[in-house]
Amino acid sequence: MTAHATARVPEAAARALQEARSVAVLTGAGISAESGVPTFRDAQTGLWARYRAEDLATPEAFARDPVLLWNWYLWRRRLVGEAAPNAGHLALVELERRVPAFTLVTQNVDGLHRRAGSRAVVELHGCLLQGRRLDDGAVVEFEDPPAGQMPVCPQTGARLRPNVVWFGEMLPAVAMVAAREAAESCDLMLVVGTSGLVYPAAGLPAMAAEAGAKVMEVNPVDTPLTPLADWALRGGAATVLPALLARAFGTASAD
Ligand code: OAD
Repeated sequence: MTAHATARVPEAAARALQEARSVAVLTGAGISAESGVPTFRDAQTGLWARYRAEDLATPEAFARDPVLLWNWYLWRRRLVGEAAPNAGHLALVELERRVPAFTLVTQNVDGLHRRAGSRAVVELHGCLLQGRRLDDGAVVEFEDPPAGQMPVCPQTGARLRPNVVWFGEMLPAVAMVAAREAAESCDLMLVVGTSGLVYPAAGLPAMAAEAGAKVMEVNPVDTPLTPLADWALRGGAATVLPALLARAFGTASAD
């Protein structure tokens, strides 16, 4: 643990984490930024720079141009396949080992929390590694299709859509119930790498605060959730989370 690492984390924040019996974590795209997965609202790169995620991630966009939509998701799926979990994901795996009750609620569809080794993961927005059959809704794994074509179910040949939640769609009910329960029962909610703009996920920290939990934010910049936070730790998740764990539990910090 270096002086630099500890300097970012106030003693009281580390103590609150160390003393918490029940921790809920809400993550967004920012936690995967340092794995090379682009966030939604920071500028997109290359081919997709001229599209807004809000315009692509809708049922209407899929109905209008399913091949375009699939190309975007297949591109993101490839990025995620080439990416590895970073020190921020790994710090949350370690945190789960140390806290008696722990739930990790993620808005991310990249599967990196599970790949890192987190177990109690609630995927609020689905997972882009999976497809969902258009005819009966079954969730399946699938292979990349030939260029310009759409993936199909390897078992039945049915057409697929990405197994993700789009704007205007309901979140999976079971996941939302688990996320609410975690928010309402935790002593501490850690909010990492989310712009706090997309509901209902963005409402979870307020739910936790109203139920009496402390709120800690990890983000390089202020967000609409910052006013709720008892502590706002500024910086990238891959640096700040290991430093927080190091200060709270004396674990090794990558910083
Ligand atoms: P956004 O792209 O809206 O926000 C990413 C957040 O991560 C911003 O607040 C950045 O400041 C922060 N950030 C950037 N780099 C970071 C780093 N290294 N460490 C920590 N934080 C960093 O992503 P989300 O909040 O996840 O929904 O977006 C919410 C939802 O909107 C997504 O799940 C997706 C999207 O449209 C659906 O697709 C339904």
